[in-house]
Amino acid sequence: MIITIDGPAAAGKGTLAQKLADKYNLAYFDTGMVYRAVGIDLVSNGIAPDNVAEAEKSAQNMTFSKMLELAQNPDFRSSVGGQAASKVAAMPKVREALLKMQQDFAKKPIAKDGSLIAGVVYDGRDTGTTVCPQAEVKLFVTASPEVRAMRRHKEYLQKGLPSVYEEVLAQTKERDLRDSSRAASPLKPADDAIIIDTSDMGIDEVFAKVCRIVDERL
Ligand code: DC
Repeated sequence: MIITIDGPAAAGKGTLAQKLADKYNLAYFDTGMVYRAVGIDLVSNGIAPDNVAEAEKSAQNMTFSKMLELAQNPDFRSSVGGQAASKVAAMPKVREALLKMQQDFAKKPIAKDGSLIAGVVYDGRDTGTTVCPQAEVKLFVTASPEVRAMRRHKEYLQKGLPSVYEEVLAQTKERDLRDSSRAASPLKPADDAIIIDTSDMGIDEVFAKVCRIVDERL
């Protein structure tokens, strides 16, 4: 079974995806990592993330293990990594180069304990529209920019990273605009996606609702 969860930054996709993967024994692929990996690859080598030629080169040479290595960089999960990822993700050839790696994961998903399992939860922006249009369950999880920015802000503070709410809100809106207005695979719900607005919902409520949807499909 393949479940795709798309939506804007900090909508709660990651937490939901991990809970679903645990409950239904599926592998989890956070596809934002492939773009963060290219972004961090550039930034850590002193290259601007809007350098198209360098971003394309990095994407063409990206592998799963290199991505995991780059994920160790302290900036990988920070707003530096997020902004750099959003910039390289707007480049069509970068997306093209990283697509196969994401699709191949569903052919041989690996569980946390290293064993092979028969399914994947994808989380990203275009996993239901482009990476895996054949998915059995497609969700589009969203929330207002203010709610998402506050969640991200609290997450940064909890991790001991410096954060100013107003700046996080401005970056959230900037990233939304870039992710949804790019020409290649923009952020948008698949025609057959179920839209869930989590602005006024806790994770337990969202999880219960999604489990009902998955159980019906099963
Ligand atoms: O989910 P995230 O914050 O880690 O994503 C980082 C950036 O990567 C996001 O701003 C847009 C891009 N992205 C994408 O274009 N397509 C995906 N499937 C996942 C992420």
